[in-house]
Amino acid sequence: MPRHVLVVSGSTRAGSTNSAFCATAAAAPPVGVTVRAYDGLTRLPHFNPDDEGRHDAVAELRAAIAAADAVVFCTPEYAGTIPGALKNLLEWTVGATVFDGKRVAWVRVAPDARRGDGAAATLATVLGYVQARVIDAACGHVPIGRQLVGPDGQVSDPATRAAVTAAVAAVLG
Ligand SMILES: Cc1cc2nc3c(=O)[nH]c(=O)nc-3n(C[C@H](O)[C@H](O)[C@H](O)COP(=O)(O)O)c2cc1C
Repeated sequence: MPRHVLVVSGSTRAGSTNSAFCATAAAAPPVGVTVRAYDGLTRLPHFNPDDEGRHDAVAELRAAIAAADAVVFCTPEYAGTIPGALKNLLEWTVGATVFDGKRVAWVRVAPDARRGDGAAATLATVLGYVQARVIDAACGHVPIGRQLVGPDGQVSDPATRAAVTAAVAAVLG
């Protein structure tokens, strides 16, 4: 049975380099692996504990995570941390057990590898809180400059595509 990885972009921007990582991963998965790029970030309502069980988009999110053997995050850093939209996504998982023991990693795509420490620290905190299993060896860097993102939202550069594929494979160990 093929293994399955969910890739989650923290960016809502058209032409996003982080979303390009995810779209490219879905289009160029490792052998024996299926990859889905989560596309529901902007459909999620603002987190409200009173709304438990009320939103299809939340149920879809939790089902997508539960169906995956591993989840890879690729997010910009905003104001020293992750974007609010991604924090909102993660808050919808706190009351569920979908991340319990789940393999997770995050990949940086900013061309300057020194950027994104704040986003990485937040992911470590929140994913630790939901008891995900962080695969440190898979938390890597695949530089994707904006010029590499094509009109289809993917990266066509062969070396970068290979690096994206390898980054996804790494989270499965
Ligand atoms: C509101 C805002 C805040 C940002 N804050 C940071 C930051 O704190 N640290 C950083 O390295 N980059 C910061 N950036 C730059 C983005 O992280 C960077 O442009 C990123 O590559 C965008 O990813 P995307 O192409 O997926 O949208 C910020 C950008 C915006 C728009």
